[in-house]
Amino acid sequence: MDTILKRHSVRSFSAKSIDDATIEKILHAGMSAPSAMGSKPWHFIVISDRDVMNAVTRIHPYAQMLLQAQRAILVCGDEDAEILPEFFQQNCAAATENVLIAATSFGLGSVWVGLYPNEQYRQDFKRLFNLPNSIEPFALVPLGFSDQTLQPLNRFDSSRVHFNGW
Ligand SMILES: Cc1cc2nc3c(=O)[nH]c(=O)nc-3n(C[C@H](O)[C@H](O)[C@H](O)COP(=O)(O)O)c2cc1C
Repeated sequence: MDTILKRHSVRSFSAKSIDDATIEKILHAGMSAPSAMGSKPWHFIVISDRDVMNAVTRIHPYAQMLLQAQRAILVCGDEDAEILPEFFQQNCAAATENVLIAATSFGLGSVWVGLYPNEQYRQDFKRLFNLPNSIEPFALVPLGFSDQTLQPLNRFDSSRVHFNGW
């Protein structure tokens, strides 16, 4: 609960690097998400190459934080692995949220940069990352340590809660 409350979008990062073991744990969290019929249709591209990060900023105007990010994870879905195609987005979104929460638990800043369902982003990301036909880019998660300490937020709103009906 503490980690969930601390998670918020971080868009500027320090130069401190992230070790591979932490990235693997974050990926472990992503792959531990629920998926419809247990299809686990996700793939994760770990981005560390500065040239690739710079290239992403040229195809996504709202991903400029990649100029400072130490790593980024591109969450993708495999249409061939999807048992119920209509659940593609939900499955990838669940994995993306797990990535964000895990990153927060390691003291990392992160932000969900949306790609899906923008057709231009889809084409540009498929081209930049040489994605096979069945692989769809879903969301990008830039990662890095932040100079600011993540503080828990309280967004609970009782007016959004309903019991046994509206
Ligand atoms: C589907 C989706 C797409 C988003 N796309 C972007 C984006 O392109 N660039 C960005 O800086 N933040 C993006 N965000 C982050 C939201 O702006 C952010 O989550 C929201 O303002 C709430 O703030 P918080 O994350 O700090 O709680 C996206 C979030 C979601 C869920």
